[in-house]
Amino acid sequence: MTDSRLADLATRLPALRLLTDAADLEHYGRDWTRRWAPAPLAIALPASVEEVQEVMRWASGHGVAVVPSGGRTGLSGGAVAANGELVLSLERMNRMLAFDPVDRTLTVQAGMPLQALQDAAKAHGLVYPVDFAARGSCTIGGNIATNAGGIRVIRYGNTREWIAGLTVVTAAGERLELNRGLIKNSSGYDLRQLMIASEGTLGIVVEATVRLTNPPPPAQVMLLALPDLDALMQVFALFQSRLLLQAFEFFTDVALRHVLAHGAQRALDGDYPYYVVTEFDAADEAAQEAALAAFEAGVEQGWILDGVIAQSEAQAAALWRLREGITESVAPRKPYKNDVSVRISAVPAFLQAMQELLGREYPQFEVVWFGHIGDGNLHINVLKPDDLDDAAFIAQCEQVTKRLAATLQQFGGSISAEHGIGLVKLPYLDSTRGAAEIALMRGVRRAFDPQGILNPGKLFAPEPI
Ligand code: FAD
Ligand code: MLT
Ligand code: ZN
Repeated sequence: MTDSRLADLATRLPALRLLTDAADLEHYGRDWTRRWAPAPLAIALPASVEEVQEVMRWASGHGVAVVPSGGRTGLSGGAVAANGELVLSLERMNRMLAFDPVDRTLTVQAGMPLQALQDAAKAHGLVYPVDFAARGSCTIGGNIATNAGGIRVIRYGNTREWIAGLTVVTAAGERLELNRGLIKNSSGYDLRQLMIASEGTLGIVVEATVRLTNPPPPAQVMLLALPDLDALMQVFALFQSRLLLQAFEFFTDVALRHVLAHGAQRALDGDYPYYVVTEFDAADEAAQEAALAAFEAGVEQGWILDGVIAQSEAQAAALWRLREGITESVAPRKPYKNDVSVRISAVPAFLQAMQELLGREYPQFEVVWFGHIGDGNLHINVLKPDDLDDAAFIAQCEQVTKRLAATLQQFGGSISAEHGIGLVKLPYLDSTRGAAEIALMRGVRRAFDPQGILNPGKLFAPEPI
């Protein structure tokens, strides 16, 4: 260990696991974006809150930048370490700490994978309802730092709704206990909520107390084929008025082609331009009949062209795979990802504007649309042509994103619905937040981290000196 700063860290914390091999620097220095070359100083894998505190005291003392790291499934570059930062991985802090049956909460270490948390809730007969395809790899700490959404936001909301308390280590190494699981707490600023979606720029989340809920009634899963985007929102209104929806997710024929090429099973014989996977409560025969009636009403109106309802758990999983498999299936094509949102009422007009914009700006590229349309959240993935160099591709996409951001601004939407600003969306923060708001956000950051050592260069550009 030739770096004197690292030698000092090793002296202060002889038991700290510290990695500096090239393969480890590469592995822990990047997330799913794959756009930046990883170049961290080292990787620290603390095993306790006390070790995290001492690492932060060391980082403050030496002025070393620290990148908090969960499962690195992030899609906005938030966990990328490309400038000699120390990556602080919560990987080893992945245990359950407590279950409280009266409060109906679980307290866990921040490095616990989302799926492990869901399983722990299930073991107590309850549910942690935030859910999405990266569940096996992403961590609750990363979910909190990005305010992750997913496929059941329409019923249960984002991660923010489920966080009852947080233990956080500050840049200076102090330990904060935020909200302590209270339901009612009118004692001033809610720093717990400030931590959520802060993308590792305000503190290291080391423990979280999450709320749990009752398992939903048995559900049914339906795949619907639709003729156009107008029909999409008509069917959404129809289904929402008649059924208790748990999910309403959309994708296009282009997305379906990629998922099928990646090994998923075709569920309908014909080819259609748009699809929806929807899940709804179907506790009894009456609820199932209501679903069938809603389907038939949609067919009569010409909004639904075909559909299938899952008859078993295996079939439900197969239908879900058509939607959840999209990210992985397009990953080899190095997609340029957009993750935008507008109010639900603005979705029809926004989709129209997007169709015009993307048709005009990307005539030569393959564009994959999908997303949590019931929440007003659309994912637009532009796939890189094989013969186009990475930098040229990104430069072209950035030009279009400027126009997309301007359109979003007109609609009062957000440039990042659920993935975070990170590095990818950093130039467009001001399309979603006003100048005065950004100045206050920077002030909050300075209050928490005066030296600016926590995940610098993410969320907003470094402060002008
Ligand atoms: P990382 O990628 O490791 O980090 C993300 C950010 O959080 C970084 O800024 C990092 O510095 C910070 N951070 C991580 N841990 C901590 C901590 N303990 N304290 C402070 N800061 C921390 N996201 C959605 O919202 N909805 C989806 O439906 C969805 N689907 C996905 C599907 C796939 C297949 C993939 C690959 C990703 C998907 N994502 C989705 C994106 C991603 O999984 C989420 O952003 C997730 O919350 C990131 O968690 P992570 O542990 O991997 O965080
Ligand atoms: C999804 O909805 O599948 C995720 O947000 C991942 C993605 O956008 O690729
Ligand atoms: Zn999503």
